[in-house]
Amino acid sequence: MIRLAPCPFAPYCEDVEFSGISVVVLESARAVSIRAQIELAAVVKDRPNALVSFATGETFGAFFAEIEHDAGLGRIDLSAFRATHLDEFLGLGPEDRAGFANELLACAPLRKAYEEGRFFPVPSSGEEKDLRGHEAHLQSLGGVQLQFLGIGSNGHVAFSEPGTSLDEGFHRAKLAPSTVAVLKSRFAPDPVPADAVTAGPASILAAARVVMVATGAGKANAVHNMMEGDVCSACPASIIRRHSDALVLLDSAAAAGLDWPEFETASAR
Ligand code: GLP
Repeated sequence: MIRLAPCPFAPYCEDVEFSGISVVVLESARAVSIRAQIELAAVVKDRPNALVSFATGETFGAFFAEIEHDAGLGRIDLSAFRATHLDEFLGLGPEDRAGFANELLACAPLRKAYEEGRFFPVPSSGEEKDLRGHEAHLQSLGGVQLQFLGIGSNGHVAFSEPGTSLDEGFHRAKLAPSTVAVLKSRFAPDPVPADAVTAGPASILAAARVVMVATGAGKANAVHNMMEGDVCSACPASIIRRHSDALVLLDSAAAAGLDWPEFETASAR
């Protein structure tokens, strides 16, 4: 059922409930990054050693710059938080430059967490025992308190591609041809790895809170399917509609495909 509440836009339009999920549409991708950073700050303020799982990719570049900036100014204290992430290319470790863990380690507070043993990379071996061990380890830390998510233009979440069972936890995955095409420049002149290791839809449901971030017109159709299509493995990102504490942060371009009344967009702070 779709429920639309009046949107006051002050300070955010968080009163908009859409398919039971809070949706905030902001004026720009930068405002979305700032808003995502506010979510992180709230969680670590409440629980300094919270386990936070990050998404990577272009959507989150400005977000990590925001974190580094605010941590440098002492506006956010990440000295005790624990960090992990969603997905990795098969066989790539944290020091491999094309990998997702390495992308995270470019952000100073995350690099510090890594050096202090507070960063837990996805086991890129893809071996069953390592995957189950990783899940058990996250669980032993109290589970993921805050899970950031991005969406692929084909509806994937993490590297859970269309067709992934919604019951899957961490697993080894084959990248879809459209995902390989998007990632070409990341690996050029080398080929994009064919396989990855990824959190599954069930891993996402296991997090206490999820924040899905999408920006740009290229994500509009995927966002439409995620929010207004069926909750099904054709669009793995639609799993967030089964989560009881989900927030979706969009810029107006990514929200353009949603079939809801026109409304103004808000500023991040
Ligand atoms: C990537 C990653 C995801 C990411 C998503 C969106 O390929 N597997 O973890 O959230 O697809 O990426 P981007 O932000 O670069 O569009």
